[in-house]
Amino acid sequence: MIIKNKSSDITWHRPIISREDRQQVNGHRSAILWFTGLSGAGKSTLAHAVEERLHRMGCSTYVLDGDNVRHGLCADLGFTSDNRTENIRRVGEVAKLMIDAGLFTLTAFISPFRSDREGVRGMVMPHEFIEIYCQCGVDVCEARDVKGLYKRARIGEIKNFTGISSPYEAPFKPELVVNTADQTIDACVDQVFTYLLDHDLVSSKR
Ligand code: ADX
Repeated sequence: MIIKNKSSDITWHRPIISREDRQQVNGHRSAILWFTGLSGAGKSTLAHAVEERLHRMGCSTYVLDGDNVRHGLCADLGFTSDNRTENIRRVGEVAKLMIDAGLFTLTAFISPFRSDREGVRGMVMPHEFIEIYCQCGVDVCEARDVKGLYKRARIGEIKNFTGISSPYEAPFKPELVVNTADQTIDACVDQVFTYLLDHDLVSSKR
């Protein structure tokens, strides 16, 4: 996960303003809320709904969304295992910069491989990575098939499709499991907020 610098002629520049300075201005700590799960499990919907509530509370936020990031930063990547690993590494590095910037950074990526997610966890301080497993079986995601991709994957039009022809490794010990198959979005958002309140990441007074 850690890539050795290609050039040895670079020097780390120490910033004047620290992450703690930025967090103080924002009035909250920063953290990565890492939503993982199958396509159609509700990761993006939930991440954006959590962001909306945080934003209304006056928190600084940003959502990194798989489909969107693949239009730019990761437009050169497909869905082979190596490409997914590189996708998650880049997103991890961006999320790391964003928590340095003092933001609540919400990420919505399938991120199917445990080792890739653990790699991102290892890039930041232990309390800064909150893994949220959007638990929703392939049967439910396929029945929803919001983007019509499962249907195309079943007839072989899309290769390496997660849950059909490519694996998904559920987390062993995520910080949070949300049942996005049966619960409403509001109930899932409440569950995430209970976690944030319990861990002093947000305050009920804001
Ligand atoms: S990841 O595996 O590298 O984390 P990412 O979250 O960026 O994936 O992108 C997943 C999105 O790309 C899905 O929600 C879906 O819309 C689209 N997609 C296109 N092809 C595939 C595929 N083969 N497997 C999974 N998702 C795909």
